[in-house]
Amino acid sequence: MNDLKRDYQDLNLVCPLCKSRLSAGECSFTCTACGREWPLQQGIVNFTVSADTYWGEYPEDVMDGLILRCREAGWKTALKEFFAEKDPPYYDYIVKEDRAGWHFIIPLHRDVRVLDAGCGWGTLSFALSKIYREIVALDTVRQRVQFIDIRRNSDNAGNIFPVHGQVNYMPFPDEYFDLVVFNGVLEWIPCIEKEKEPCVSQMEALDEARRVLKKGGHLYLAMENRWSAMNFLGFRDPHSGLRFAPLLPRSLADIYSRRARGRDFREYTYTYREHRRMLRDAGFTGMKFYAPLPSYRNFYYILPVDSPSVIRFFLDHLVSPRNNLQSFFVHAANLFFLYRYARYFVPDFSIVARK
Ligand SMILES: C[S@@+](CC[C@H](N)C(=O)[O-])C[C@H]1O[C@@H](n2cnc3c(N)ncnc32)[C@H](O)[C@@H]1O
Ligand SMILES: [Zn+2]
Repeated sequence: MNDLKRDYQDLNLVCPLCKSRLSAGECSFTCTACGREWPLQQGIVNFTVSADTYWGEYPEDVMDGLILRCREAGWKTALKEFFAEKDPPYYDYIVKEDRAGWHFIIPLHRDVRVLDAGCGWGTLSFALSKIYREIVALDTVRQRVQFIDIRRNSDNAGNIFPVHGQVNYMPFPDEYFDLVVFNGVLEWIPCIEKEKEPCVSQMEALDEARRVLKKGGHLYLAMENRWSAMNFLGFRDPHSGLRFAPLLPRSLADIYSRRARGRDFREYTYTYREHRRMLRDAGFTGMKFYAPLPSYRNFYYILPVDSPSVIRFFLDHLVSPRNNLQSFFVHAANLFFLYRYARYFVPDFSIVARK
């Protein structure tokens, strides 16, 4: 029997659609209630529901080539050959485990089970596996799940369990995890579920996160701020590549996006208040907002934005402006007490909430 298949049985996975028990066959799992089959494909059970779930910076055939090379030469060599010289920031993004440094802000002991939802290449999963008991790494891209499987075997990271599925149809039982992580994921979900309103599929994902969390469990959510100062200053939105699009009413952003790139604007981000409302509506409480700086993808600081005194200390002592524009902002922030409003305009949010 395939190792991953045995793992799936140990994990007590359930049907992503009706959440009933699965029975294991030779080449698939079958739901004991709705009868839906979840097939084994290239050693990985496919628990995805939507028609086309590929997502990525590179085309699918490049990713298949990478997986092949990982099997031949090992994941480190393959990653170096594919990205180290051609795309150094991407290479760093895949290998830099200090991206999981935010875990210090969540009061958790070591003996917990964590879900890295939309885990990508598993960068956070591998970092967190050195701290916590068990990590389940869920992603909708088969090649990423295969990469994690190859890497965990080569690194002897036996407490990581890669699963190929979608965050809004999770194949996990209720109240299963102590921590659910959404790091740079929520904004991308609508791009896979094209038939639904973006905020509907995002809300479904948060509902699923709440369902699989134990009572009192933590959600960690990191993504861009819709009202980021960068958006007001006309920098390109990192998701759509369009300037000012996140700031517009959604219907106008749609028109603009259709003209500029021939498709709807679906990569919804949210403001400070919208995030609070959305998480409250999804049943979370005790929200704490942080600003990872310069960005949640690669940060050196993580500031509690609801504490103006911390923001002021940061501006007074830790920022050394590198140009006139930056020193103008720092002076203006102090002169007009703007640091009190910093929470609304920081680039990104890291949010900790509880079930
Ligand atoms: C920007 S990457 C972030 C990866 C990872 N969380 C990290 O921080 O390194 C977004 C990831 O979300 C995954 N994703 C997007 N929509 C998803 C969905 N509906 N279900 C599961 N994964 C999804 C993509 O395949 C991609 O790997
Ligand atoms: Zn079912």
